Amino acid sequence: MEFDQKEMKALAGRSAVEALVKSGMKLGLGTGSTAIPAVKHIGALLAEGTLKNIKAVPTSFQTTLECEALGIPLYSLNSREIDGNLDLTIDGADEVDSRNFCTKGGGGALLLEKIIAYASASYALVVDESKTVDNLGLTFAIPVEVIPEARVPVIRALEALGAEAVLREAVRKAGPVITEHGNFIVDARLKQASDSAALEAEFNRIPGVVENGFFTRIRPTVFIARRNGTVERRD
Ligand code: 5RP
Repeated sequence: MEFDQKEMKALAGRSAVEALVKSGMKLGLGTGSTAIPAVKHIGALLAEGTLKNIKAVPTSFQTTLECEALGIPLYSLNSREIDGNLDLTIDGADEVDSRNFCTKGGGGALLLEKIIAYASASYALVVDESKTVDNLGLTFAIPVEVIPEARVPVIRALEALGAEAVLREAVRKAGPVITEHGNFIVDARLKQASDSAALEAEFNRIPGVVENGFFTRIRPTVFIARRNGTVERRD
């Protein structure tokens, strides 16, 4: 039997929860169609009493709404109970390379996703096998969150760094995507294999860039679901 992409995403999400989530944890909860099955599984384990005393910090409105519907107790990174640090965050990714560096922000939530990821003692990525690549940014463009007033200079600076940079247009809303923090997203596709860690720092040095979708300063455990129904765990 072959798993389709939706089934692979659900399998990756559930596997990470089964392997890593323990009662009493402070958890960061990711955004997107692979992270949400993990959130749903945590909700189900809480409802049946297998998991207890979870404190969750959501990475987006999507995740907030899902947690509210499931009754998962929500906090912010600034809550006294969280005190700026988490035990574990589980999130999806757009691309993952062999060093477990990844890119994120396909859903436009990269800013909070990165703040929460970098505030977590452990980080797990849940992906289906289509997300693994040799070089980041060649197929799936790197999302760059930009303050609206800096749109053109940032696009020119990204082009000068060798990327094809395009303002992300909204779907079912006229004009550009507006992030949850009131900014635009510029998608920067690389033309050749590059040093992801250097580019993560370089992109953020451009005035007007709030954050970019390279995640190279943490080493996640990656759960890769395969079409044949198995999950590879890559530490
Ligand atoms: C949202 C993200 C998502 O985690 C990423 O886009 C993967 O999404 P999906 O699991 O739906 O493919 O970074 O900003």
